[in-house]
Amino acid sequence: MNDQVMRNLSYGLFVLTAKDGEKDNGCIINTVCQVASEPNTISISVNKQNFTCEMIRKTGCFNVSILSENAKFPTFQHFGFQSGRDTDKMKSIAFSRAANGVAYLDGDEVNAFISGRVLHSIDLGSHMLFIAAVTDGEILHSDPSATYSFYFAHIKPKPEAKPAAKKGWICTICGYIYEGEILPDDFICPVCKHPASDFKKLE
Ligand SMILES: Cc1cc2nc3c(=O)[nH]c(=O)nc-3n(C[C@H](O)[C@H](O)[C@H](O)COP(=O)(O)O)c2cc1C
Repeated sequence: MNDQVMRNLSYGLFVLTAKDGEKDNGCIINTVCQVASEPNTISISVNKQNFTCEMIRKTGCFNVSILSENAKFPTFQHFGFQSGRDTDKMKSIAFSRAANGVAYLDGDEVNAFISGRVLHSIDLGSHMLFIAAVTDGEILHSDPSATYSFYFAHIKPKPEAKPAAKKGWICTICGYIYEGEILPDDFICPVCKHPASDFKKLE
């Protein structure tokens, strides 16, 4: 089997938000999928280490803000490269609340939001798969939705200087460098939480 085959799958990009008591939080995910139409049902897959995952396991509610091609890299850094355990990510972010009380981003980087109520939670090891009823949603802009490929081609900055001086493995998602000849199979990027399969050896 070619281990790279999973890279040919196509994904959208989203800010997944949750609210637990007074605490709002959100993280970037690429794993939202409509899995049934009658009734309208989606799935999301969230790393168990993410604070947002913990909040959804507790509250059973979330919103998905669909990022458009207008999304900027700082938004990915803000929601994808740091944890809400360490910082208040919703401070200084433009958002509104949906009928479920959970925030969704309403700036010009998002073209729609969807609200979900968890029906089933499936423990997949590294991730929780949540199957959720769609309870609300609105279209906010007409800009096309961003895909993962669009993110790599047009949003994520290309590395400037070659990190040739360093030997090791680079995370192709966020640029974190693991220094060492052998990358453990179960290594998880400490910055963006992606697995060893998303690392490339520095030549
Ligand atoms: C482009 C990109 C895609 C990501 N996709 C996912 C994903 O599908 N599932 C996931 O759990 N985390 C994903 N992440 C990582 C989380 O956004 C990241 O770990 C975040 O810091 C978690 O924040 P939290 O602890 O506040 O929930 C992605 C990050 C980036 C930059």
